[in-house]
Amino acid sequence: MSVWAVLAAAGSGERLGADRPKAFARLGDAPLLAESVTRLDASDWIDAIVIAAPPGWEEPAILLTEELGAGKVTSCVAGGATRAESVRLALAEVPEEATVAVVHDAARPVLPEEVVGRVLAPLSEGWDGVVPGLPVADTVKRVRRDQVVETLEREGLVAVQTPQAFLAPVLRAALADSGEASDCAALVEARGGRIKVVAGDRRLLKVTTRDDLAAVSAYL
Ligand code: CTP
Ligand code: MG
Repeated sequence: MSVWAVLAAAGSGERLGADRPKAFARLGDAPLLAESVTRLDASDWIDAIVIAAPPGWEEPAILLTEELGAGKVTSCVAGGATRAESVRLALAEVPEEATVAVVHDAARPVLPEEVVGRVLAPLSEGWDGVVPGLPVADTVKRVRRDQVVETLEREGLVAVQTPQAFLAPVLRAALADSGEASDCAALVEARGGRIKVVAGDRRLLKVTTRDDLAAVSAYL
């Protein structure tokens, strides 16, 4: 069984508002990207890594992986206009023989090794994909303009994170449908795939705004 990681790092980081793409914003002494690359490279579960870099930043991304000595990184491609497109482009670099693809957001730098194990285990029990999720603490409402349309029942809601693990051929087929979604699991669900939820981890907090950089630093 070979497990390939796809690291989605190609976003521009509009909401962070740095003078460079989010993956190269500073987290401590290093670019944000360094943390997830280091952790994936050190993972006992991961055999190889493909990075989707911000267009024009492939070279700095490669230099960074060399500096880090991240030998599992086999290639670094320019990402696309959307997250799904970036994953699609990176997955094209994953060999046909790969058994499993683990998709992770570079915007979630703190990746605990045990979560990688948790998302991989159910793939041998007939699941197409596995995602980490956390119970939702707040009440979630659907809103149109500023008017509440619906209050969702909190019971049964989970906030989903990455890493998300998939049988590689299933993910490939789902991405070929050229749909768009904020996570890969939704594309697999859309074609009837079975996705399991396992326990997520608070430390997998996604860096979206400036405040999140400080919050994530506390978990380093
Ligand atoms: N991503 C990507 N390619 C894109 C858009 C997003 O690889 N075209 C990646 C980001 O690099 C990030 C993850 O998907 O690791 C989650 O996206 P998000 O947090 O929205 O990051 P950005 O799109 O960069 O931020 P923003 O939406 O604020 O511009
Ligand atoms: Mg985005």
